[in-house]
Amino acid sequence: MSATSKPTDQVAFPDPSVYLLNRQNSRKAMEAGLAEAEWYQSPVPRAKMRKLLVRRNGPALRDAFIWFGLIFASAAATISLWGTWWVIAPYLIYAALFAGSADARWHEGLHGTAFKTDWLNIALYEIASFMVLRESTVWRWSHTRHHSDTIIVGRDPEIAVPRPPDITGMLLGCFAIKRYPKYFGNLLHHARGQLAEREREFIPEDEFPKIFRTARVHLAVYLLVMAAALISGSFLPLFLIGLPNIFGTWLMSLYGLTQHTGLAENVLDHRLNSRTFLTNIVNRFLYLNMNYHVEHHMFPLVPYYNLPALHEIVKDDCPAPYPSLWACWKEIIPTVARQTEEPGYHIQRSLPPTAGREKKPAIKPSCPADAEGWLEICPSAALEDSEVIRVNHHDQTYAIYRDGEGQLYATDGICTHGKTHLADGLVIEKMIECPKHNGRFNLADGSPARRPVCKALQTHRVREVSGRIQFHPS
Ligand code: FES
Repeated sequence: MSATSKPTDQVAFPDPSVYLLNRQNSRKAMEAGLAEAEWYQSPVPRAKMRKLLVRRNGPALRDAFIWFGLIFASAAATISLWGTWWVIAPYLIYAALFAGSADARWHEGLHGTAFKTDWLNIALYEIASFMVLRESTVWRWSHTRHHSDTIIVGRDPEIAVPRPPDITGMLLGCFAIKRYPKYFGNLLHHARGQLAEREREFIPEDEFPKIFRTARVHLAVYLLVMAAALISGSFLPLFLIGLPNIFGTWLMSLYGLTQHTGLAENVLDHRLNSRTFLTNIVNRFLYLNMNYHVEHHMFPLVPYYNLPALHEIVKDDCPAPYPSLWACWKEIIPTVARQTEEPGYHIQRSLPPTAGREKKPAIKPSCPADAEGWLEICPSAALEDSEVIRVNHHDQTYAIYRDGEGQLYATDGICTHGKTHLADGLVIEKMIECPKHNGRFNLADGSPARRPVCKALQTHRVREVSGRIQFHPS
């Protein structure tokens, strides 16, 4: 157990059905104030955050080239050594890269934060989704919910280890044994144009056709691979595409289960339900810095290559990081074993005494509106290019933006997708990107510009007069 963690007292034995995503469980979480709630964020000076939010193609392309290069090299070695015992080592490396480390690429592509160029993020996401046996659209919405309601029972579709833990299932999970029937069953289901109730719970209806299309594409690729195997009279095509997940998913489990396993459920603070651990450069490359998991959940807009710098800024406000991957597992293994008998037990992370709870300050107009309803907000210089400020007025929150060309915009301050302040987001060209799920709005008219945002933002009037910014709520 880590020095900053302590076990909680045992509490009542939970009913496993509470984890099901259905209307009843969702309503319970909502009534408890746990759904789409406001989560704690460590204070980060805005100037530093702006630097951290910058996306660059350079590091992401470098890492992608190395990664794909390793995959192709190990695949080439597998092909050339096929039929000999020497094939085992390169094939296991290939499988771990293909099915294990693809998970981190899938994740970063999903968030759209790896590359500056959007289509590269989308391409990486689609390729990695296929590699890790996931349907891209279903999982995009599933992961969106995971970030809204992290480890909130009855809301989060990605609770990897519900209590009491299924140890056999966890072990089988390292070989993707359960995933194959689930994935191919879902593909067949979706290819026929059908969706399960739990999926309808978190996926908007207008996304259904995309799910059906993707399922058909995945099935078509597998049919081609099977045809190649039949025509060539060799299992090699299947070992290259389809079966690597049996031999390589262990790496995904090794990293991924450290994220939340054994920690608190139903809390609104990622410092209490997520793990950050320190590790070597190889693990950080394979896992794309997701070892900084508290930081990632608090600020999902920060690209993976900036997470170490973010960690340095917030670490004094967070529980001490685990010193190694092994230290995480030293805590997880006995915790999970104990939870099989005492499902109410979990590790309670201790916050440092200096941990803060303050919110980012909002600007409040200092004097009443003038005769025409205009409010004085701040000097023009207080809002730099590609920046946003939060304004509170009469129990309402607004956001005022300046794009890269100096143009001002104003909208409601809360994202229409969830309860998130857009003033914590990122101004990209003439859009605002929400800090929670990376949805985007066009600033000019508030219209949705990227999923998961579906509903437009209310826009307001804003102007500059004599070196001051004035705002007029609609
Ligand atoms: S809260 Fe989900 S995109 Fe804004």
